[in-house]
Amino acid sequence: MKENRYHHLFEKAKDVLYKNWMIKYTSPAKTLYPYQWSWDSGFIAIGLSYYDQEKAQNEMLNLFKGQWENGMLPHIVYHCDFENYFPDPDYWMTYLNPNAPEIKTSGIIQQPIHATACLQIYKNAKDKQKAKEFLKQVFPKLKKWHEFLYRERSPDNDGLICIVHPWESGTDNIPVWDDIYKRIQVEKEKLPNYKRKDIETICQHLRPSDDDYDMYIYLIELFKDLRYDQKRILENSPFVVQGPLLNAILAQSNLDLAKIADIIGEHSDIFIDLYSLTKNAMNQKLLNCDEHIYLYYDYKAKKHISTHVSAGFVPFYGKIPPPEEAKCLYDYMNSQSFCQLGESCYAVVSYDKTKEDFSPHQYWRGPIWININWLIYKGLKNYYFEEYSKHIANSIIELVEKYGFYEYFDLNGKGYGAKDFSWTASLLIDVLFEENLLK
Ligand code: SER
Repeated sequence: MKENRYHHLFEKAKDVLYKNWMIKYTSPAKTLYPYQWSWDSGFIAIGLSYYDQEKAQNEMLNLFKGQWENGMLPHIVYHCDFENYFPDPDYWMTYLNPNAPEIKTSGIIQQPIHATACLQIYKNAKDKQKAKEFLKQVFPKLKKWHEFLYRERSPDNDGLICIVHPWESGTDNIPVWDDIYKRIQVEKEKLPNYKRKDIETICQHLRPSDDDYDMYIYLIELFKDLRYDQKRILENSPFVVQGPLLNAILAQSNLDLAKIADIIGEHSDIFIDLYSLTKNAMNQKLLNCDEHIYLYYDYKAKKHISTHVSAGFVPFYGKIPPPEEAKCLYDYMNSQSFCQLGESCYAVVSYDKTKEDFSPHQYWRGPIWININWLIYKGLKNYYFEEYSKHIANSIIELVEKYGFYEYFDLNGKGYGAKDFSWTASLLIDVLFEENLLK
């Protein structure tokens, strides 16, 4: 085998994951996010699965140590205690709910990418027997997690799952929420005293604003008052949103959970049915055929939010768009709003860049994120939009090779946020293998 630049990149990516390894799990980035994050770990396990089956399996099994009795998989699992992150493990007071495990966790969720990650571990496994044992071990946990989402987070029982906190979206300060925030009164004087730690290492103007943080904390305080009772949260939280990102990821995870069930001899039909349920609901409620994008739905105000973000194209990943709509969606994504082929830009920005409030450096308010691009990259392949999926693969490789393993990037490629970011490394690994560049 002849070594090439891609092998060198692969080695560097492994090194990033190794540096962020915390014995039981891989942190997204040691200084900024020292604990185990739910969707990060899913993406990380996908990268690990190409070269370290054992570590990939443990990444998932250790994440599920934080699973609540009711099936909820929390967005952070605090395996230990560090000084450099807020909210700290004790802040959440999850003992208020009898379902919480002994290990400290957050009290909210994140995108359910885990079944997909577990199936990928099996697909890449050198030791298939061990991988099958792993699937047997993880299957009941994944099943319980999906059941939780459909039981506790689908208020109309139509298969559309909602989030109740911006952190649940993983896209914390995405401009979609601006509209919702206008109708929420945060009584600042009632908020507890808290100190942000993120801005000790990252410039404040690159992170969510103080007002955003007040909103995050306001909602968590409310959830504590409601003792993390999901029914009461849905009734009382002013922030209840159904969106294309979580639902597309869940749809795909249902398909992958069905495959896992088949591999280990369990019933799989239920997951195929759940896939269809969510897919149909997304196409009925979130797809906007006039605007050629999937929108978010503000469940409390009972209206769609017309803000266009790249997450609105992630349904390609879950094979959600009907074939007759796919081309229109694709044409809109392949336009100056997001990054047109032939235009000198790196793949898909997180928010319509023709908008006045597009912010090229501020977290989820414009920059290019590798995970959203990876989801769209996979999705475009489902629909045979090869040229653009190739463009995304090239963007991911070039961004990392030229600028480093950053958390996110601006239009020119300059990196921001955490410097050695785990999912940037792990998803690059997947792209290198997927594009057959390591042969
Ligand atoms: N993404 C959040 C943070 O920035 C937490 O989930 O800290």
